[in-house]
Amino acid sequence: MKIEFFDTPELLAQTVASSIIDFVIAKPNAVLCMASGDTPRLTNKYIVEAAKKNRIDFSRVQFVSLDEWVGIPPSNTGSCYYFLNETIFEPLNIPTTNIHFFNSTAGNLSVECERINQIVEDLNGIDIILVGIGMNGHIGFNEPGVSPDLFAHVINLDPITLQTGQKYFSETAAIQKGITLGISRIMQSPLAILLATGSKKAAIIKKTLEENISNAVPASFIRKHANAFVMLDREAASLLNK
Ligand code: PGA
Repeated sequence: MKIEFFDTPELLAQTVASSIIDFVIAKPNAVLCMASGDTPRLTNKYIVEAAKKNRIDFSRVQFVSLDEWVGIPPSNTGSCYYFLNETIFEPLNIPTTNIHFFNSTAGNLSVECERINQIVEDLNGIDIILVGIGMNGHIGFNEPGVSPDLFAHVINLDPITLQTGQKYFSETAAIQKGITLGISRIMQSPLAILLATGSKKAAIIKKTLEENISNAVPASFIRKHANAFVMLDREAASLLNK
């Protein structure tokens, strides 16, 4: 794992966007897994701008879902799908056949997990996984206490996720569980990128990078990844030992 520091969230987002664009130029049928949330919004904006300006062809890129709120349909503006559709899929005209998202309203979520696991296997894995970090150290919906041995799974959301998660919804949402790719899948991807910006992430970034690697802070497992980058703006890095 490497840590990279940026003066501003804009510089961070520009760098991540350029890396993704360069990857897609080199591998037009890349398989990407991108987080939703406030943190990647700027990165996604720069990806779309650069792709349009330079006419980068995203039509063969495959997108795999990182996570979704159980029971929340894609039409809900707070869903992970809605965010990615609004910031990436629609602006880049991604064919629906290239979007492999958790159906979190499926009757049998174990079958749904197996469906996504199989899709990832059929695609020969995910080339780049881009994650944010929750206030409790979750990545995807790998909540504190999660087993690092899991692939796609359903999990009870941690109280902090239940609380902070409401910010994405226009009306109070009945959320309780999440469906997510597991730590094992993140560890298997050849490149994992964790983004954190803002002073509110400083304390959890310090725990992630300076305390023991354990499921108490699931993001800490990324330190075991041979090719992971933790990209921090100045504020998110502000509590780290220099
Ligand atoms: P945020 O969410 O980018 O909205 O802060 C991050 C996360 O919970 O993974």
